[in-house]
Amino acid sequence: MIDIKQAILQGIPSELPPKKEFDTSVSHAPKRKNILTSEEKKLAIKNALRYFPENLHPELAQEFADELKEYGRIYMYRYRPDYEIKSRHLEEFPHKSKQAAGIMMMISNNLDYDIAQHPHELITYGGNGAVFQNWAQYLLCMQYLAEMTDEQTLVLYSGHPMGLFPSHKDAPRVVVTNGMMIPNYSKQNDWEKFNALGVTQYGQMTAGSFMYIGPQGIVHGTTITVLNASRKIDSTSKDMSGKIFVTSGLGGMSGAQAKAGVIAKGICIVAEINPKATSKRHKQGWVDEVYKDLDELIDRALIAKENKEAVSIAYDGNIVNLWERLVERNINIELGSDQTSLHNPWSGGYYPVGISLKKANEMMVNSPDQFKKKVQKTLVRHTNAINTLCERGMYFFDYGNAFLLEASRAGANILNEKGDFIYPSYVQDIMGPMCFDYGFGPFRWVCTSNSAEDLAKTDKIASEVLEKLIKKSPKEIQLQMIDNINWIKEADGNNMVVGSESRILYADAEGRMKIAEAFNNAVTSGELSAPIILGRDHHDVSGTDSPYRETSNIYDGSQFTADMAIHNVIGDSFRGATWVSIHNGGGVGWGEVINGGFGMMLDGSKDSERRLKSMLFWDVNNGVSRRSWARNKEANFAITRAMEMNLNLKVTMPNIASDEVINDLEL
Ligand SMILES: NC(=O)c1ccc[n+]([C@@H]2O[C@H](COP(=O)([O-])OP(=O)(O)OC[C@H]3O[C@@H](n4cnc5c(N)ncnc54)[C@H](O)[C@@H]3O)[C@@H](O)[C@H]2O)c1
Repeated sequence: MIDIKQAILQGIPSELPPKKEFDTSVSHAPKRKNILTSEEKKLAIKNALRYFPENLHPELAQEFADELKEYGRIYMYRYRPDYEIKSRHLEEFPHKSKQAAGIMMMISNNLDYDIAQHPHELITYGGNGAVFQNWAQYLLCMQYLAEMTDEQTLVLYSGHPMGLFPSHKDAPRVVVTNGMMIPNYSKQNDWEKFNALGVTQYGQMTAGSFMYIGPQGIVHGTTITVLNASRKIDSTSKDMSGKIFVTSGLGGMSGAQAKAGVIAKGICIVAEINPKATSKRHKQGWVDEVYKDLDELIDRALIAKENKEAVSIAYDGNIVNLWERLVERNINIELGSDQTSLHNPWSGGYYPVGISLKKANEMMVNSPDQFKKKVQKTLVRHTNAINTLCERGMYFFDYGNAFLLEASRAGANILNEKGDFIYPSYVQDIMGPMCFDYGFGPFRWVCTSNSAEDLAKTDKIASEVLEKLIKKSPKEIQLQMIDNINWIKEADGNNMVVGSESRILYADAEGRMKIAEAFNNAVTSGELSAPIILGRDHHDVSGTDSPYRETSNIYDGSQFTADMAIHNVIGDSFRGATWVSIHNGGGVGWGEVINGGFGMMLDGSKDSERRLKSMLFWDVNNGVSRRSWARNKEANFAITRAMEMNLNLKVTMPNIASDEVINDLEL
């Protein structure tokens, strides 16, 4: 048996470990573009060798050159640890700082082979959402975490541990930046080049910030989205029953759609091109049935509709084939969306129709221009089929994967005469006004005991807190509160835990603070057996500036600025976060968004109580105030309420110019 503590403390082994066979039983990242010149390739190898003593360089240099040639990146496969990487009780990690042990637990969960999309390439989700660039970074980071005290801060530059720096106990234990670029060097090909050089990485949202808790993290948000989408087209409907929702993707995040559709009591059809992803979700019970034959699938869905059955059905094939067959058969669909990884269209995020997965993977490397053309042609067909179904009454929304953006770039018929997209993003219509503007967002927690019993206790505590709060909640947020109480009560029964014992729950600033306080008290009293880690998705009220997604319902022009996300991470870091992160590109792609997040350990101490109150209040109300300044009336309501709750909060409120004054101007 391997002594895990010993292995972690060792860091990068001084002796060369045996070479590892390429393991074909796990899903691997697609081969990345061959983008470097020969000189740059030498630089990439030289960069990689910085982690190793000189006597190993001759052997490793050739090996890394081979990896670069074969996979387009240097992952240092040989250094992948032999122990099982997974979430464990925090005491199982060697540590001097409990906070650091909690972070080790979260990193391990992000790289768990059952959770990570391409575990050997250190990719958690989204095709290229990396925790680290290579295994040396992982080993070194874990070693630093094991050695550090509460008087130090570990600095991570895109996965690279720059080192431990003296700080103090109220400072974050880890500060993470991922993909921070000089703005002019933030195009997709810049990521390819600088990632291949080993100097930056794409951290997605929760991958590079160690806050990924498996697809559960998104099931709640997706449930809220589809529930409210269905209320949007039918205000009398309580849920999605009898309605068909068609979409794509059974990957990291998209895998949540099938489950959410069933929780919302509807029929969810999801196309997935990669049979490995489909079978993973099927085995996990996240998708009920799988079909290869389109007509059989459609017939099955029609029976479910007739019987108002709640069921999820996967199509083992390309989403475009599914849409086109629905058009041909004249089937009426109520709700439509897409969750292929279009934030990463040229490197495996979106597969063109008409060629096999294998051929497509080869083509994207060997003939990238031809591949790009095929993707764009597919996007045009994809859009045409959706347009036809929408003309027949379907409500389609962009699901934050850059579908509208890439379809428009491909020349698809998706813009109106003013140049705006003809379909809304789900944030514009649903999540923005109904959740984010009120401060509701994907709050989450993880039990560092790794115990299901503790998780069940936290569910109970959280639901009691919300039930108390709803009694005094204003009518504007009552529906939210009811949905969230229902969610937390049913969460355990929905069997959503994959990996660490964690839970997601949409909550506003007050809810988050009150729940966190109750957890901290339960740790103090011993009701919970070990500390709790709090966090959230970057996809939240304040953490993310993304003009076509999180901030797509900001209409004062500031949706193209990133001050909110930057303020958020700075503000969280001096108000008590245990770790903070700021990323380029999470969710919709490199250069398109700035997104950040935090992790916070509640160890039952008075310090934790002070930190949680200070930080959570800021972490939500930063974004609410910005949304209010952008004239969003729901945010205006929420920030006014927050100021009444805390008299130290004084927010600049907008004066609203009437349209009459503006429209009559001569310009
Ligand atoms: N709206 C949200 O709340 C939200 C949340 C997370 C992610 N996203 C976005 O959704 C996208 C998907 O995220 P993910 O983590 O699931 O990524 P992923 O890469 O793990 O999954 C996408 C899946 O789509 C499949 N796919 C690609 N092209 C296809 C095609 N033509 N037909 C059928 N299947 C195809 C892939 O095989 C893959 O399994 C990303 O762009 C992400 O940023 C949105």
